[in-house]
Amino acid sequence: MVNETKNTKEAVLSLLYRSPDDVLSGVAISRKLDITRVAVWKHISALKNEGFDIESMPKGYRLNNKDDLLMPFCFPKDMRNRIYRFNSVESTMDTARSLAKEGACHLSAVVAENQTLGRGRLNRTWHSSQGGLWLTLILKPDIPPIYSYIYNFAASLTMASVLKKQFDVPVSVKWPNDLLIGSRKLAGLLSEMETRGDMVEFINIGIGLNVNNSPQKDEPRAISLKEYLGRPVCRKEILESFLHDFEQLTQTIDCEKIISRWKTMTSTIGSDVKIETLGDVFEGRAVDVDISGALILQTRDQSIQKIIYGDCFHT
Ligand code: BTN
Repeated sequence: MVNETKNTKEAVLSLLYRSPDDVLSGVAISRKLDITRVAVWKHISALKNEGFDIESMPKGYRLNNKDDLLMPFCFPKDMRNRIYRFNSVESTMDTARSLAKEGACHLSAVVAENQTLGRGRLNRTWHSSQGGLWLTLILKPDIPPIYSYIYNFAASLTMASVLKKQFDVPVSVKWPNDLLIGSRKLAGLLSEMETRGDMVEFINIGIGLNVNNSPQKDEPRAISLKEYLGRPVCRKEILESFLHDFEQLTQTIDCEKIISRWKTMTSTIGSDVKIETLGDVFEGRAVDVDISGALILQTRDQSIQKIIYGDCFHT
């Protein structure tokens, strides 16, 4: 019964989304779905309460901001069964973990309008208010864990390329996987992995992309696409292109190709950096990223250090 109600509510939303005329009458909806007008009204109220921008008018109902909907039915057919959209979750990382264990397929995407306990690297809080793209990608590649790093590079490279192509923004990638505009943070990536025996069971890559939100009140060094471009943009187009291009890029895993393309988009190589690891701090000039994803650092005494993880600051 709960599922039936959810399905009917989604069907109402889908009709409004697909309606060629702006306004769809309650009678038309009730006929198409074979439900009463009272039921239509109840579903519309529930959808409004969930935050969907539906206007009630004398002739019926109109769905506004259609372009920004992230419902599975808004995506091409081959993507629909792997988009999991939620209104509010604690963290898409936790939801994705459960879904991965319950059998969600390779390249599933978990998105939420809001996260109440969004988290970043090193267990930092990730502020996730309305308007951002809060996404966790579920990957189930048939690989041993040592190759998992390449998917993070593929994800940041793909997202940076999509944003450059769609909006012509001067986005760069900061080692290991942040996206920047200038020195301000546009997106952060966080990955979690589970193994079974010698192989990966799943890799979940969380991406927090500041799109139409205003992150600066919580993170003064952050920026959103809306703030940079001076206008809101469509999250759905970003997500669709990202999923498509990421699938293409990772169809065969070619570490050399992915790292060399990633290097064309990074602002880290050539910068003076400070890297904080759990027990150490390294400072110097970033001179390269090798095929294993490690940062090659030339320190002030001209020695070369290979750093495999850490928090990186451009100084
Ligand atoms: C970082 O830069 O510290 C990584 C931030 C990752 C944030 C994203 S938002 C979607 C997913 N869910 C989370 O709780 N975190 C990641």
